[in-house]
Amino acid sequence: MIKYPERLNLAQAPTPFYPLERLSEQLGGPRIWIKRDDLTGAATSGNKIRKLEFLLAEALANGCDTLITSGGVQSNHCRSVALLGAQLGLKVHLLLRSDIEPKPVGNLLLDQLAGATISHYSLDEYRGLNKLFAQWQDHYAKRGSKAYAIPTGGSNGTGMWGYIAAAEELSQDFQRNAMMPQAIVQATGSGGTQAGLMMGCKLHGIDTRVKAYAVCDNSDYFTRKVHRDLQQWQSQYSPETDISGLVADTCDDYVGPAYGIAGEEVFETIKQVAALEGILLDPVYTGKAFFGMMEDIKKGKFSGQQSNDIVFVHTGGLFGLFAQQHHLGY
Ligand SMILES: Cc1ncc(COP(=O)(O)O)c(C=O)c1O
Repeated sequence: MIKYPERLNLAQAPTPFYPLERLSEQLGGPRIWIKRDDLTGAATSGNKIRKLEFLLAEALANGCDTLITSGGVQSNHCRSVALLGAQLGLKVHLLLRSDIEPKPVGNLLLDQLAGATISHYSLDEYRGLNKLFAQWQDHYAKRGSKAYAIPTGGSNGTGMWGYIAAAEELSQDFQRNAMMPQAIVQATGSGGTQAGLMMGCKLHGIDTRVKAYAVCDNSDYFTRKVHRDLQQWQSQYSPETDISGLVADTCDDYVGPAYGIAGEEVFETIKQVAALEGILLDPVYTGKAFFGMMEDIKKGKFSGQQSNDIVFVHTGGLFGLFAQQHHLGY
């Protein structure tokens, strides 16, 4: 029996789990199942809310009245923090990275609606992110507030619990459908979902691999980042758990031009999956990962395995699509 730390009940879960029959048939490879974590909420939707159930519980337990977090200007994580902070009556301060004058669209529009304080930083200024966090925490302390710092993407040992819990949910999904997939596929950006799913599979005895598709950086970066999160989790919560066998399996072949910038093939994938299955992907995370998975299916990389099933965890990100709708060509 796993002893979870304190947790808030924020996500709409369990999320739906079912096979994408038409797409699987069209690709002619394994049967693709989808875990609809894009349905964990309306505007608070996506993977971040699962991590925030644990992070925000810790913030409240520590007596914090303010949340500080960081991300790109269209960060889904920052949008979830802004809205959940408002829901819980906490002040929210977002440190956003943007090199051009940002337009109030997509996630940024929702950050503003949620009343978050927003500081914009250039790429150069953002390199000193740790200092910025410390400065702002000090700023709030001097005014009698206590600010809780949430790392980019909510990815650390505490945030990992969100996907340890999601893995438990997946294990029930697999049992109900009498299947065990050869792989759980997901988009990875700050590594916390990946680390959580890997640890979750280990703790819940799920015999599969977690295959992550990078949307930025390279596979070496994720090997290091995931290991760091796992180590942090281990030292904070479970020194007796052996993490030596947990090595990130990350594909960096489909990152495309840069973080947040996708090629035409990703927009074509978004259109194809929406029309065929009624599933909305986004160009920053899930669209890239889904395209990568489809390419690898076509290349036979999921063939010849014992199991003919793979699971795509849809981690949300819908509002990022509206920030780039001009690329859809309509
Ligand atoms: C929609 C979406 N999918 C996937 C990810 C990647 O998750 P993680 O940051 O835990 O790697 C993120 C966040 O970065 C996201 O917003």
